[in-house]
Amino acid sequence: MGKTKVKFADPLKIEKSEQLWSKTIKVIPGGALTFSKAPFQHVDGVAPKMLSHGKGPKVWDVDGNEYIDYMLGLGPAILGHADDEVNRAISDSLEHGISTSLVHPLEAELAELLCEIIPCAEMVRFGKNGSDVTSGAVRVARAWTKRDKIACCGYHGWQDWYIGSTGRNLGVPKAVQDLTLKFEYNNIESLQRLFDEHDGEIAAVIMEPVNFFEPKDDFLNKVKSMAKENGAVLIFDEVITGFRMSLGGAQEYYNVIPDLACFGKAMANGMPVSIVVGKSEIMQMFDEVFFSFTFAGELASLSASVSTINALKKRDGISQIWAMGERLQKGYAQLVEELDVGHITKMIGFPFWPEYLFLDKAGSPSMEIQSLFQQEIVRRGILTRAGMMISSSHTNIEIDKTLAVFKDALIVVKEAVKTDNVLNWLEGEVITPVIRPPVEE
Ligand SMILES: Cc1ncc(COP(=O)(O)O)c(C=O)c1O
Repeated sequence: MGKTKVKFADPLKIEKSEQLWSKTIKVIPGGALTFSKAPFQHVDGVAPKMLSHGKGPKVWDVDGNEYIDYMLGLGPAILGHADDEVNRAISDSLEHGISTSLVHPLEAELAELLCEIIPCAEMVRFGKNGSDVTSGAVRVARAWTKRDKIACCGYHGWQDWYIGSTGRNLGVPKAVQDLTLKFEYNNIESLQRLFDEHDGEIAAVIMEPVNFFEPKDDFLNKVKSMAKENGAVLIFDEVITGFRMSLGGAQEYYNVIPDLACFGKAMANGMPVSIVVGKSEIMQMFDEVFFSFTFAGELASLSASVSTINALKKRDGISQIWAMGERLQKGYAQLVEELDVGHITKMIGFPFWPEYLFLDKAGSPSMEIQSLFQQEIVRRGILTRAGMMISSSHTNIEIDKTLAVFKDALIVVKEAVKTDNVLNWLEGEVITPVIRPPVEE
């Protein structure tokens, strides 16, 4: 029994974090500029709210506490934070100016590189955030098909056309909300239903090609055929899978080539750049469709993207990410068995993006138990949300340290669950989700 003795971690010193947060919240509504970085995504009162810097797989909060980071700025830092090679590329590019007055040759240089690595890419347009390019792709699909409705599956960003279909739809006109329809992953009938009910009206099928589950029963090819038969443009939203599942995204991994695809997050190791790519005949519509903004060709980000792609190739970064994810998943499964907590937790997802889940007695996801786990791991130096982002700078050392922390935390969780009063063990607030289900009116 010695092995499974409950060990409590000391509370973190987060006074400076709290002080700076009170200052921030006075001048920035909501405090965090991205919901996913907000205190309600961690155990508020226990976890830090403010970070000061990061290097490789580690970050430090403003109080000086060190963490192994599995948030990676919500995905972008695919090589690890403050990568020397990418930083050099950024600082070299600064000599040319940041935003040029006419087109710069680097735009075509990066576009050519992307056309080499992404199977569907014959032409490229740049954006800044994932939402820019999913929205650009949707607008082009509407222009191409002369239809208005969109079928979607997954998360696609903050713009009206998508967020109006979620519970975070404040400010989105009802008329816009009604144009976006949802289908379920691995449920081809749910897409068929949309095409039946909105015959001849659906401009695009946009989807995350994978999320946490493998496509089953040739799902991606079936979606592709169904979109084609119904005259809709197929758009893969590879904002997460891009450069993480493989350099060419899930479309390369599964060899299912969409009409258009969107990449973002991990394209430039943290610099803001995203792309919509695809078949020339559709991409040419961007000549007329308004997708035009000041910072699209900003050079520091484009240089960072070239450098990130080259570094991922040179360092075999994607294999490293998969190997570390597999080590984490295998280790977690072993812990679950060793501690006999299979009724409380499991890890799902692909090695490039594993996610831990905590379940209540009825087998439903439990934010309370997850919060207790997160309390225990953040106090022991692991910063993550349930979906864990791994960079190519994570090594066996970080993964093994993480698993050792997970073991101590799972022992606490197991004991807490036995008492039937998990909240009693929690010293901060229960985590709440960013997107709630839409509310029926
Ligand atoms: C699959 C997917 N698409 C689109 C987006 C939107 O990207 P951004 O937040 O950069 O606008 C995200 C962001 O999390 C995403 O995960």
